[in-house]
Amino acid sequence: MRRLENKIALITGAARGIGEGIARIFHREGARVILSDIRDEQGKALAKELGEMACYTHLDVKHEGEWQLVYEKLLLEFGGLDILVNNAGITGFMETKGPFDAENPDMESFEEVMRVNLNGTVLGCKYAIPLMKRKGKGTIINISSRSGIVGIPGAAAYAASKAAVRNHTKSVALLCAEKGYNIRCNSIHPAAIMTPIWDAMLGEGEIREKIIKDIESGIPLGHFGNAEDVAYAALYLASDESRYVTGIELNVDGGILAGSEAKPE
Ligand SMILES: NC(=O)c1ccc[n+]([C@@H]2O[C@H](COP(=O)([O-])OP(=O)(O)OC[C@H]3O[C@@H](n4cnc5c(N)ncnc54)[C@H](O)[C@@H]3O)[C@@H](O)[C@H]2O)c1
Repeated sequence: MRRLENKIALITGAARGIGEGIARIFHREGARVILSDIRDEQGKALAKELGEMACYTHLDVKHEGEWQLVYEKLLLEFGGLDILVNNAGITGFMETKGPFDAENPDMESFEEVMRVNLNGTVLGCKYAIPLMKRKGKGTIINISSRSGIVGIPGAAAYAASKAAVRNHTKSVALLCAEKGYNIRCNSIHPAAIMTPIWDAMLGEGEIREKIIKDIESGIPLGHFGNAEDVAYAALYLASDESRYVTGIELNVDGGILAGSEAKPE
């Protein structure tokens, strides 16, 4: 028996990176996977490659009207939803003009990061809950970040948005528990996972190699993780194996959050 047999799973930001990794593993474990993104060509190609039991739909997570359309599609075609992964996210470095330092944030850029990372997740939870209630159970996985737990001086919007995702997860978890919906909600906190989101920070060529080495010297396990490392954490939270788990934060960070480089002695 595969771990997600007969489950309907919607993944946002699934065209590449961590979302792609999650889509691949959920599909392999027997789920019917609905990939969504704003990168339609990449998303469609991935769904086609996965083949049967995978499809693609456009979904810009910051627009409520697009969530409404996806809600109707899920209701009509699948009768509800078992698993939602709110994965779509941006740093704002590529998508907006910035800057994002806490002393001088550009407010339009700040709000755009909030719209995608926070509003996108809030909307995902809003539309998933009624779909899951129809099934009598469900599991929501919000991809926050290490930056949702510690501050990032040069990326204040990203850090604030991810901290809000971390906290909203617990409100959703408690609300669903209180109401007896049998819907769980948990957050995953990745750090240093090698995906295209890093391109703006790493640059190219020799400089890229040097920055990677510098970052890796601060990771207890000594290297970047990959999308699959996060996907396995999502698989546990998506499956019935985690049926007594709600409102938790699962760090997938090579040990970064376990301590500080400033030694206590
Ligand atoms: N890679 C890391 O080290 C790391 C660390 C912590 C948290 N995260 C989080 O993991 C998630 C996935 O990141 P990734 O590393 O795979 O990045 P990525 O840039 O490779 O992938 C993000 C995907 O989200 C999509 N997306 C962007 N804006 C969207 C929107 N408005 N609506 C729908 N889709 C949208 C992009 O098109 C892309 O396919 C993000 O939420 C990110 O913040 C990543």
